[in-house]
Amino acid sequence: MSIKLTAERPFSRGGNRLCFIHPDHPDRCIKVRRPEFTLEDCRRKKGFPKTLLPLSAFDDNAEEFRVLRDFQENYADSIFDHISRSYGMVETDLGLGMCSELILDHTGDISMSLMLYLWHFGYTDECKAALEKLKTHWLKHAVPSRSILLHNIVVEKRLQGDDEFINRLVVIDGLGATGIASLPFLPQRLRRYLVGRKVKNLDQRLTDFFESIKNGKYPGPNGLPMKDGKPDIPKPR
Ligand SMILES: Nc1ncnc2c1ncn2[C@@H]1O[C@H](COP(=O)(O)OP(=O)(O)O)[C@@H](O)[C@H]1O
Ligand SMILES: [Mg+2]
Repeated sequence: MSIKLTAERPFSRGGNRLCFIHPDHPDRCIKVRRPEFTLEDCRRKKGFPKTLLPLSAFDDNAEEFRVLRDFQENYADSIFDHISRSYGMVETDLGLGMCSELILDHTGDISMSLMLYLWHFGYTDECKAALEKLKTHWLKHAVPSRSILLHNIVVEKRLQGDDEFINRLVVIDGLGATGIASLPFLPQRLRRYLVGRKVKNLDQRLTDFFESIKNGKYPGPNGLPMKDGKPDIPKPR
């Protein structure tokens, strides 16, 4: 039976998808394509020569499902220590949805993106240590991914005694290799080199982020929590 989402409020959205809490499983989310940004729009935006590709090549949900299934079948289960698990595709009244593990803090709140964390708290020592752990994990499992974006990582907080701490960083989007890294039978050394480049690029992204907020404005609405159906953009400072 199709899951009804039209009556629900999304908790967040990215460039491509709207994210909802699963109505029957509060610890899962369902991601559907943004109705106002169709696959055709997405293909048009990419421009030539990508406009020659079939629409299915732009379906992030199907691609993410395929990649996460590959992780489940062919990688050590510990790969999911820092990647949200998939529970498969589900039918909804907003089209096919990808159902996955919803990352929650000890408070029950949905964990904020690393970008929003950095905006509020800066690059704390604790955050630095958590990011180092994530990088080591990425290299150890040679995780095939696109560029690791700061709003595609979420910060899961837990409580120890009275103190809140970062339990782990979890990547919730941008999985699966593209370009040369996606070629089958790529020599292991080259694969590891390419993964290493993605990891190194993370440092540049941090630098770019802090540079971009020097004007006091939060960079863009994607990946923010939504309030009353709209991204809750932090006040300029
Ligand atoms: N499993 C999850 N747990 C917690 N937050 C999530 C999860 N998936 C997505 N989010 C939040 O929703 C935002 C948008 O989701 P995302 O999958 O990145 O969409 P898009 O593919 O459109 O970029 C993310 O930036 C993140 O803040
Ligand atoms: Mg995203």
